Formats: sequence, C-alpha cells, structure tokens
Amino acid sequence: MTSRLIRGRLLSFEDRPSGPDDTAALFYESDGGLWLQDGVIRARGPFETIAAKAPPGTPVTDHRPHLVMPGLIDTHLHMPQMQVIASWAPALLEWLNTHTFPAETRFADPVHAARIAGALFDELLRHGTTTALAYCSVHSTSAEAFFAEAARRRLCMIGGKVMMDRNAPKRLTDTAENSFDESAALIERWHGIGRLHYAITPRFAITSTPSQLEAAGALKRRYPECYLQTHLSENAAEIALTAKLYPKAADYFAVYEQYGLTGPKALFGHCLHLNERERSAMAETGSVAVFCPTSNLFLGSGVFDMDGLEAAGLRTAIATDIGGGTSYSMLRTLDEGYKVLQLQGQRMDPLTAFYRATLGNARALGLEDRIGTLAVGSDADIAVFDPAATPAMALRHETVGSLADELFLLQTLGDDRSVAAVYVAGDPVDRSPKPGLTASSETVAI
Ligand code: GUN
Ligand code: ZN
Repeated sequence: MTSRLIRGRLLSFEDRPSGPDDTAALFYESDGGLWLQDGVIRARGPFETIAAKAPPGTPVTDHRPHLVMPGLIDTHLHMPQMQVIASWAPALLEWLNTHTFPAETRFADPVHAARIAGALFDELLRHGTTTALAYCSVHSTSAEAFFAEAARRRLCMIGGKVMMDRNAPKRLTDTAENSFDESAALIERWHGIGRLHYAITPRFAITSTPSQLEAAGALKRRYPECYLQTHLSENAAEIALTAKLYPKAADYFAVYEQYGLTGPKALFGHCLHLNERERSAMAETGSVAVFCPTSNLFLGSGVFDMDGLEAAGLRTAIATDIGGGTSYSMLRTLDEGYKVLQLQGQRMDPLTAFYRATLGNARALGLEDRIGTLAVGSDADIAVFDPAATPAMALRHETVGSLADELFLLQTLGDDRSVAAVYVAGDPVDRSPKPGLTASSETVAI
C-alpha cells in the first residue's frame, strides 16, 4: 500500500466559476494536506487535520508555497506530430500534405512509434498534463505503442488509431473494412485496461470515404462506451472540399450526423466556422467543440467563438492540438486562448481559465468523477505549480493581490518551468530530460 502526504496550497474547482471573484466555486486551502493512498486521494483539508488521519509514519512531501492542483487535461493532440511542430506551410491542407502525412508514415515502424510515445508522455508530464485525448497514426502499431506506454506509466489516457482511406499517401491509408477490424481489435485489447480509454478516430471527412464513415458509425454502435474524435470546420478550403466530397450533406456537421458520429462522447476539434444549424445540432446531440487556440493561430484557421457557441448550448473544451499547436503547455494554451477571446471582446477570467484546463475538460470527457479535481476518491493525478518560477515571474509575483491575479500571472508567463512536481496515480513522476529521447546526431541540410 503506497501512502503519502502532500503539503501545499491546495486549489481545485468544485464547479464552473461565474467570474473572477467566485471563490465559492473553489476548494482552496492555504496550508493544505492531501493524503494519497493506492493511487487515489483519500482525504484533503488543513494539513494538521489530514496528517492526523494518515497512518503514523506516512511520508510527507512539502510543496509550500507552491500551488497543488489537479493534473491538467489536454482534449486534442496528435502523437505522430511531435516532429511536425514548427513546420511552415501556408495553411491546413498544405501543412497536412507537406509535413504531417510524411511524418506519420514513419509510425508503421513499432520502434519509432514506441520512441515517440515515450517522448510524448515525458513531454506532457513535464508540462503538468496528466491526461490527453490523442490521435495516433493510421497504423495499429502506433496505437499499440501509445497504450502500452501509457499503461506502463499508469496514466489515464485516451487514444485511437486514425481511420483514413483516401486523399492521403498510399502508405497512410487503410480501408473501410480493415479500419473497422483494426479499431475493434484495439478496443478489445485496450479499452478499459487500467486507466485507458479508446477513441474511434476517423481523421476528418476529407480522408474518409462514405463507407469508412459508415464503418466508424458501426464501431460507435458496437462500442458505445468509447469516445469518438474528429475534426470539424477548421479552414475555408477544408470546408469547401468537404462539401464537394459530400454534396448531399446540408453542411459539414451533417456529414458526421448522417453516420451517427455525434453525441456526448464525441469531441470535434476546431469548430471555427459553424453555421446556426450546425451549432444547434451540436448542442442537441451534446457533442463537444474543442478550442485549439495555438493551432488555430499558427495555421491561420480562424477564431473560436466561445461565447457564441456556449450561448447556443454547446459543450466546449480546450486543447493544444500538437503539432498544429505550438506548445505542449496548457498554460501557454490558456494564454493564447485568452488573447483570441480578447480580440473578439470575449473575456476568459483566470478562474474560468484554470477551471477549463481541469474540471471543465474532465467534464467534457465525462471523467469528472476520476480526474480534474482534488476531490476525495479521485485518482491522485496532481500538478504542482510555482507561479514565481522565473525571475520575471518572481518580480511580478511580489505585486499579486489575489488568487485570481496569481493564476493570471501563471497563465500569462508560465510554461514547463512553472511545473514544480507531478504525481500520477499517487506517485511522483521523474520529469528530468531523457537523453536518449532528446539527442539527435542528424545533420541539418542548409
Ligand atoms: N484536420 C485533419 N487532420 C488534421 C491534423 O492533423 N491537424 C489539424 N489541425 N487539423 C486536421
Ligand atoms: Zn487535430
């Protein structure tokens, strides 16, 4: 029985804050204690009270004055795009064809897939992210590597093999039939093992024939407990090509509706140019629109209308979208998201921002009883933040007047340097750089 006590400033959300002063939505304990046992949070409260509850001799890790929060959650990223980040292209479709598809072909190789899966989890954990919803490549080997490595680390991870049977290089396509069979085999092998979940993953309408979307719908009917992830309404050229490929569909979302690919466990990346009908259909089906600010800016795709979508009743989430996205950090993602909303006269206050990266994203995944809070009974996935981690942050930290101010500083200036410690299933994670994964002897051609 692993048992440990954590001491620090505890911060977790009980509900969505109504604004920057809504401290009623918070659980905050300035000298708090968390008692972790067998991977879950057994008790929380003032440190002295919790220390008295834990068995005598339970080791204590003192993180004061840092903020002890639930591990951050990323609801959309691509494992095979770790070596695609920072690749220049005019826009989405060119970026996919020039950089992304060639990089993804390498994931047929299980050794490469295993190396990158390890690098992905190292990088996410270095940035305080303990759960992600991930696209693997079209190859089953990539999903095998993702799940095997996540299981080894006892992580709560969600992923799936991409289904794509057209408009991509030959080495990167499957068929409607074998994408069904391979996805089903991966579900049978991994879904529900440890803390793993499967996401049925038709990449987007452009790279799937109608027969393959039919197959994705059949998978969803056969395995209703699984997630579904895809892309929707990201870029003007993508929307036009989709309309050409699916001429009978009323709009982009209608393509997915037609094949039963919607619902509370369906997460749609981007959703930047939705019409009124798509908004209400998404809301009615409980589908989730995922805001990917750094990616939307980097690819010049558009701006996410958070207020408009939420007013229409949509569920929303926030994500990095590595490697269209430009940072693994959910702090950087909140910061860029904040600016995108500012541009539209929409405001994301600091409490709401941190709610989104924790309980909000957990709710979008329907996992709020397991992750996203420091509630008793939750899995003990924890990130410890230092809002004064750099000289510039420390200087600004001297003048913060409230918890909301402090969180805003962490979001605006913070990154991996602000992550002081991470726990997964109750155990501390070694976040030091791994030489074998970072070194490269390849010469760059000029
Ligand atoms: N649409 C289809 N595939 C992708 C992808 O890999 N990244 C982004 N940003 N959009 C997509
Ligand atoms: Zn994506």
